[in-house]
Amino acid sequence: MHIHRFEKIWLIIGGAIVVIFIVSLFISTFAMGMQPPSIRETIDPKVVDQTPPFDKPGLKQIGDKRYEADMTAFVFGYGPAQMEVPAGSTVTFRVTSKDVVHGFEIPGTDVNLMAVPGLVNEATQTFNKPGEYLILCNEYCGAGHQLMSAKLIVK
Ligand code: CUA
Repeated sequence: MHIHRFEKIWLIIGGAIVVIFIVSLFISTFAMGMQPPSIRETIDPKVVDQTPPFDKPGLKQIGDKRYEADMTAFVFGYGPAQMEVPAGSTVTFRVTSKDVVHGFEIPGTDVNLMAVPGLVNEATQTFNKPGEYLILCNEYCGAGHQLMSAKLIVK
């Protein structure tokens, strides 16, 4: 069978692209240890209360107007239920669940996470405007879902 010269070139290029793709997949998976970007950190959901920093959930100051909020979600609330930061603060929320999947949304901001048992998810937000920000569960999690909330006060 006669194969046109250009056709042959395209076949070689196509084959080479497939090989490059497979090789790069192997390199990124095994050599670089890549994970899906949303998975930051894992945690044993059965011992969240004994695992730092979630054994003492709450705000930690990590710099000038920089805070880390280590938070737990559970049926039907968050730990802690209330926090307070000065206006202009940047807060990194790190969230995990002690039981089922919950939501973690702060309306009016870009924070919209899922609190998943076994995982620690995070989002960072700067709060320039003083006020009371509600943290809400937007993932149906049972009978008390509508009551599940926490509060961030920005002063
Ligand atoms: Cu937690 Cu809905």
